[in-house]
This record gives sequence, C-alpha cells and structure tokens, in this order.
Amino acid sequence: MGSTLNVPPGSEPARPKSHKLWGGRFAGGPAPEFEALNASIGIDFRLWPHDIRLSKAWAVALWGANVLTLEESRELERGLDAVGARIAGGEKPAAGDEDIHTMIDRLLHEEVGDVASKLHTGRSRNDQVATAARLWTMEATTKLDVAVRLLQSVMVERAAEVESVLMPSYTHLQRAQPVSAAHWLLSHFWPLERDRARLKGAARSAAVLPLGSGAVAGCAYPISRTLLQGTLGFDAITPNSIDAVSDRDFVAELLFTVAMVATHLSRLAEDLIIYGSSEFGFVQYGELYSSGSSMMPQKRNPDALEIARGFPARALGNLTTLLATLKGLPSSYNKDLQDDKRALFDSVDTLLLVLPAVAGTLAEIAFRPARMKAALSSALMATDLADYLVRRGATFREAHGAVGRLVRASEEQGIEMHALPRAAFTEAHALFGDDVFDALSAPASVAHREVEGGTGPKAVAVQLAAARKAVEQ
Ligand code: ARG
Repeated sequence: MGSTLNVPPGSEPARPKSHKLWGGRFAGGPAPEFEALNASIGIDFRLWPHDIRLSKAWAVALWGANVLTLEESRELERGLDAVGARIAGGEKPAAGDEDIHTMIDRLLHEEVGDVASKLHTGRSRNDQVATAARLWTMEATTKLDVAVRLLQSVMVERAAEVESVLMPSYTHLQRAQPVSAAHWLLSHFWPLERDRARLKGAARSAAVLPLGSGAVAGCAYPISRTLLQGTLGFDAITPNSIDAVSDRDFVAELLFTVAMVATHLSRLAEDLIIYGSSEFGFVQYGELYSSGSSMMPQKRNPDALEIARGFPARALGNLTTLLATLKGLPSSYNKDLQDDKRALFDSVDTLLLVLPAVAGTLAEIAFRPARMKAALSSALMATDLADYLVRRGATFREAHGAVGRLVRASEEQGIEMHALPRAAFTEAHALFGDDVFDALSAPASVAHREVEGGTGPKAVAVQLAAARKAVEQ
C-alpha cells in the first residue's frame, strides 16, 4: 500500500503502467511492496533462451491446432528471434517486468504488435516455467557431466604418476596399511563415477515435457504435444496436467546429485588439506589455486580446497529448502514453487565453479613420495606379519596375539618392529623364520593384495585402465 494509503481512491498519481500477463479482473494495485516480493525476474532472467525456444515451438503448435494462421505463427517466431537477439545484446528488464516470461511477452509486443497477444493462447506460465526449468536442467546436467569428467581425467593422470609410490592408508585417521598412492587417489574417482550415473538419472527425469498442461487442467486447443516433445528434445510427455505443473522431482534429484558430488569433493579436499599440512607433507600445493596470508608471510593456504570442503553445507541447504517447500504443498502449481530456481541455480552455479577449482588444484599439486614412504612405519605391516604366520600354519587368532606382543615390545622399547632382535620374533611365535623381515616390507605387503579392487600392483593397473576407459566413454 505504502504512499497511496491516505489518498482518496481515483486521485493517485499515475504510475507508469507496467506490462502484465494478468490484471483484467483487478481495479487497482498491485502494491509496490507486493511487486517487490512477487517479482522473480532477478532469479529467472537467465531462463530466457529456453523461454524463447519453447515459445517458438508453441507458436508452431498453435498453427497446427488452427489457432494461428501460418503467417501469424511465422510472425511470432520472427518476433521471438528478434526478442532473443535484443536480450542477447544486453536488453535489461524494465521496472515491473514480473518475471522473464512477462519481459519476453512485453518485448514481443514491441516487435510484432497485437499478434503477440495471441501467443499465450492455451498456455499458462505454470506449464511454461516448468518447461523452461526442465530445459535449463537438461543443459545443466550436460555441463556438470563435462566438469566432473574433467576432474576425473586429472585424477587418472595424476594417479598414473604415482602408481608405484606407496603411502599409508588410514582408518579412523590412524595409520592402517600401505597402499599405492594411485589406489588412494582413485578411491575418490569412483564416487564421482557413481555421481555421473545420478546426473544421467536427473537428466532423464527432467526430459519429460509439461507444455500443453495449461494452468492445471490441460490445453483446450488440439495442439500436438508429441510434436512439441520432438521439437524441444524431450524424451516423453507428462501424463497428468495437475502433476505436470508442480512436479519438481527433477529439481530435487539434481539438487541431491549436486549435494552428493559436493560431499565427495569435500572428502577429497579434506584428504588433500591434511596431506598438505607440514605434519604430513605428502603433497605440496601449487600457486594457482592457493592464497597467502595478509599477516603471515610464510603461508600458502589451500583456499580452493577449503571452499570445496565448505560447499556441501550450502548444497545440502538448497536440497533441504526444496524438499521442505514440496512437503505438504497442495496439488498443482502454488507460488511457493517460484523459489525452486533460486536453490537450483545456486547449487549448479557453485558446483560449476568448485569442480574446475578442485581439478586445477589437483593438477598442480606436487606429490612427495619420500614423505609418504617415511610414514610407512613397520607397524603398518603388523597384519602382514600375522598373515605370514597363518601361511605357516598358525590360526589367525594365535597369529594376531603373537604380533600384538611384538607391537607392544617395539612400543615399549621405542623402536620400529623391524629393529627388534630376531630372537624377539621366535619368542613371540615359534613359526617365525629367518625371512620374517621380508614380511615387514611395504612392497611385499601390497604385492599380496592382488585381489580385484585391492592395492596390489596388477590390481591397481587394472583399476587405472578401467578408470581411464570410464572417462573416455
Ligand atoms: N515466475 C513464476 C515461477 O517462477 C512463473 C509462474 C507463475 N504462475 C502463476 N500462476 N503466477 O514460478
């Protein structure tokens, strides 16, 4: 209401009349405060290429349904192209353009005059925005897939460099067993491969055409939805108009996928952040994706990785926001849904920044094999020592106990296991032979693990080849 509050009806100063797709049944309003809240153009402006495209297809569909003459349909197509060119050339929204659909309609009137008023026959912004958002989502999944694949190929390249480098693996962040550094790096590759399947799933969910659903009950003109589907590149058409105008499952699926990718990246980032600390020193950051400190001259901070580690918080927030919006919403379109795009665009935009930054960070990181090797204390081969006894006929429990005693002895004496005297081994178990020290070597430990998916050199080579093939496909 604002400034018009104390003015007698009819005597308000005339505000420039904005172009509206509705308003016939209203004598006054809307309040500027409402317009400010209701407008979505700040968010949905970027849907314009998709709105132009679907509107052109709609003009043709209306000709097919005998609503428009061929000339009118052509004129609308030409006008829409001109509008697209204007927007591409920098045309900005006018005050009062409620959303991108309104803006395009206004510009179309400027381009072709009254015939523009025929384009909205049989359609609603409800099926229009759902269609545009789906087209945008289909495009986004392709971009995301490319960006994920780029990171994966960096992983494969870097993994190949350190195939024969050994480092500790960790459980509970405690040194566990030696593994190939490639095996560790590829442990972050496969989660992304699963994410690519999720992206494909989200793309499939998006590729169902809602156009032709009208506001809620379906279009009243005999347009061909099959033709629209083909023209716009959808896989199928929605089977129920009520569902069609409010189905945002495809948004939820993409938001979940983004949250999942972000979560995976955060774990890689965290590994690299820990490994890059002076205490670990397994990797050293390059300069392109790090920053310095304004106070401490010595600092090189892994900011890109820290941002990648932090991003899933927002990605999860966006997913939660959308699911909370959908929960308990009455059937069909409700204005609550307008905010779906804020969450969708933010998640996708940010991930499209994070992915190349993580790829760039990983590409320029320096591995430090000597530091990795130095961390391979012989306690990491305790399991191998037990396996040694098992191979000589001991039960695993008996072997576990014997090796446990050796570990305790080495800890008490403050020396590595391989520095214990030969006699200490025989004392722990009679089956220990002279070759016991071979069993304490890290290369021997990994060599025993040629099981599929294990860290044995041959198994890792097979894994690397499979990863390479996956990114090439
Ligand atoms: N800007 C709206 C949105 O993004 C378009 C649909 C508006 N529909 C309506 N009935 N007011 O959801």
